[in-house]
Amino acid sequence: MENEVHKKRILSGIQPSGDLTLGSYLGAIKNWAALADEYDCYYMMADMHTITVRQVPADLRRHTLTQLATYIASGLDPEKNVLFVQSHVPAHAQLGWVLDCYTMFGELSRMTQFKDKSAKNADNINAGLFTYPALMAADILLYQADLVPVGGDQKQHVEICRDIATRFNGIYGDVFKIPEPYIPPVGARVMSLTSPENKMSKSDKDPGGCVYMLEKAEDILRKFKKAVTDSDACVRFDPAAKPGVSNLMQIYSVATGKTFDEIEREFDGRGYGDFKTAVGESVVELLRPIREETEHLLADKSYLESVYRAGAEKASHVADRTVGKVYKKVGFLAR
Ligand code: TYM
Repeated sequence: MENEVHKKRILSGIQPSGDLTLGSYLGAIKNWAALADEYDCYYMMADMHTITVRQVPADLRRHTLTQLATYIASGLDPEKNVLFVQSHVPAHAQLGWVLDCYTMFGELSRMTQFKDKSAKNADNINAGLFTYPALMAADILLYQADLVPVGGDQKQHVEICRDIATRFNGIYGDVFKIPEPYIPPVGARVMSLTSPENKMSKSDKDPGGCVYMLEKAEDILRKFKKAVTDSDACVRFDPAAKPGVSNLMQIYSVATGKTFDEIEREFDGRGYGDFKTAVGESVVELLRPIREETEHLLADKSYLESVYRAGAEKASHVADRTVGKVYKKVGFLAR
């Protein structure tokens, strides 16, 4: 990596709390692959974040490995990107604790995701769910990341990370790089197909609303055919008045590269039936090679192991340096 020292650095991650969705692909992963040549990239399976909500242990392990295979199948070449499992790099827990002590109760209380998730998990509002943004700040700051490519829903977490880093730097000098969020212009907020006022989410109660990256073609097509639209039979981009149609246009635009104008012209005078079928087919074609390659990679567990072991080593190398610096700054006695 010697010749890559001057490249700007990227860190991002996804929770392996379920099957990856079309939302996480369009909002995050699809953009990551395009950044690999220009940046020094670190992408993780954020398994430590996942246990803020109760998980079935065997499922968590399976989702973590499948997520790694899907990252690679989506174009993240392990030779060019550091792919690792968060819990394999102890520095995340180490810096996470330190940053807990530099993060205010009041600012954590304002996180919209905490409010949403505590409403959904009323029987398990644990301390980890509350302090989650401090761990996410540690994830980013450990790597001195310049850029954090995420969907729109994570913007607030990147902002609190900037606040924590600025506060820490204000006390101890220039310890952390202040990161910028990188949010795609289209695809940053993919909505549920059945309730387009809500984000498409793997925890969606209605399975018809969420498309999964590894889903069978016929299931994807069926979900798009049933997608909620409106009654005025006109394909036009207007998220406030036509949330369902606008969401489908957004998905179609990212899948095909067509602009909203081009899409409006393509479906001018045609019914929603044609439109929904076209969107579904474009998503099937977008995801087909990824699904096939993921299945192929999952058959070779020893290759996947070699990728995450090498990733943990490379990630630790960078992350441990930051932890060392931070421990010294806060006054921990050197071992
Ligand atoms: P997570 O696992 O909920 O989502 C992973 C990524 O996918 C994006 N995303 C979406 N984008 C558009 N439309 C959607 N419907 C949609 N659903 C999900 C998310 O914005 C995210 O980019 N806290 C993070 C994981 C994390 C992380 C980090 C991210 C842990 N540490 C450090 C960046 C840097 C999360 O829960 O994402």
